[in-house]
Amino acid sequence: MHRLYSLAFGAVAAALTFTASSASAASLTRQPYLQRVGPDTATIALRLDGSCVPSVRYGTQGSTDQSAQSADSGRNHAIVLTGLQPGTEYTYLVEACGARTNPVRFSTAPVPGTRNVHFTAVGDFGMNNADQRAVANAMLGRKPELFLMLGDNAYSSGTEAEFQSNLFVPMAPLLAQVPSFAAPGNHEYVTQQAQPYFDNLYLPTSPSGGEHYYSFDWGHVHFVSLDSSCALGLAPAARCSLAAQKKWLEQDLASSDAPWKVVFHHYPPWSSGEHGSQPLMRREFTPLFEKYGVDLVLTGHDHHYERSQPMKGNAVGPSGERNPTYLVVGGGGASLRPFETSKPSWTVVRNDRDHGYLDVKVQEGTLTAQALTPSGQVIDSFTLTKELPPAPEEEPAPEEEPVVTDPSSPPTIEQPGPTQPPTPAPGPITGSPGLPGSPEDPEDLGPNAPGCSTGPAIALLPAGLLVLAGALRRRRR
Ligand SMILES: [Fe+2]
Repeated sequence: MHRLYSLAFGAVAAALTFTASSASAASLTRQPYLQRVGPDTATIALRLDGSCVPSVRYGTQGSTDQSAQSADSGRNHAIVLTGLQPGTEYTYLVEACGARTNPVRFSTAPVPGTRNVHFTAVGDFGMNNADQRAVANAMLGRKPELFLMLGDNAYSSGTEAEFQSNLFVPMAPLLAQVPSFAAPGNHEYVTQQAQPYFDNLYLPTSPSGGEHYYSFDWGHVHFVSLDSSCALGLAPAARCSLAAQKKWLEQDLASSDAPWKVVFHHYPPWSSGEHGSQPLMRREFTPLFEKYGVDLVLTGHDHHYERSQPMKGNAVGPSGERNPTYLVVGGGGASLRPFETSKPSWTVVRNDRDHGYLDVKVQEGTLTAQALTPSGQVIDSFTLTKELPPAPEEEPAPEEEPVVTDPSSPPTIEQPGPTQPPTPAPGPITGSPGLPGSPEDPEDLGPNAPGCSTGPAIALLPAGLLVLAGALRRRRR
């Protein structure tokens, strides 16, 4: 059914364009997008081009018998749904000025502790080009429960207009159906210290950093989003500082008893690409990742894919010891950058030839990750495993009898290896830190650069056209 709705989305879009000329149709300049989704809540954000008080109709099992109304009548709206059921599929649509959007579906976060989580992640995509749309559509096709944005979400300067044209327009179907959680990149910080990023996204918060850095649990995975631009001193000191962020991170990781921990931010502590490893992020944060058992660190900034060995300090960690694996997943849409150095010894797999994303499934004590191209080619595949204590009795019985073992035992890693041929002759760790927003970071904006095409304003669909949309869906079956 998920795919049917995706197909219907395209069919309805054509009808929406037709209705844009109608004087009576309200104009939805930004399709609804899912924010702050948890086990019992979801925020539906959207933008209108006129003054109207929209409402969300929603429900389970295909119905839309419940409703929630926006608190104001301006252009930007964030309608909070509460009292939702965990791990449940909801259908929703937006009504405004007598018109309505096509219904789409999403699922709430599962009951905390549920040992089955599926997410995707990618960075460096905010281009409004064909590569970005291909990656986004491929992620939607995987039906993840949530999507992590790894920064540089709206090139080239993270302006208000660029968020609209380079994030919300090309990724509208994904953002309407998959809850997203973001980290800011250096390009967001070019404009007013990322103020448009904070204005347009509705993120979880932390006591000391607000939306700059935060954490949340999804099932049995603890996710942490860091603001690496803040760590490099680019944020207003009153709002975000390196010291406060580190203090919060240590408290946050120490207090989490989730068996899996995933951290995501923009600047990579380990990368052999053009920008290279970011020394401050490695020096200040990786000791905390090691101390508190972070499993995966997901980053972008360099426009390639790369997976490290489990790292400790400035070197590969001792075998048999549990240490974080670092990934660069920067192939979301911006121009790829060829490696200019031989593959370092700490790199397991790297790829500078394919745009793509990361798809991760965490089931019980097994984390299976794949780096995939939009066409489904496997760039990389690896598995992390660890022994978990038995699940609490109130959870559904697992299919296999759990085994009680030492929870401090290190995970094992299976590494089937790349489908791309590895580069020869490992060399030393190379690269220099890139500076946010500096001239040495000239991402190629390509033929569909911001400002070239912001896409037409999309009108809300009059209720009568839903009959047409339904007929189109039935014909497609
Ligand atoms: Fe970047």
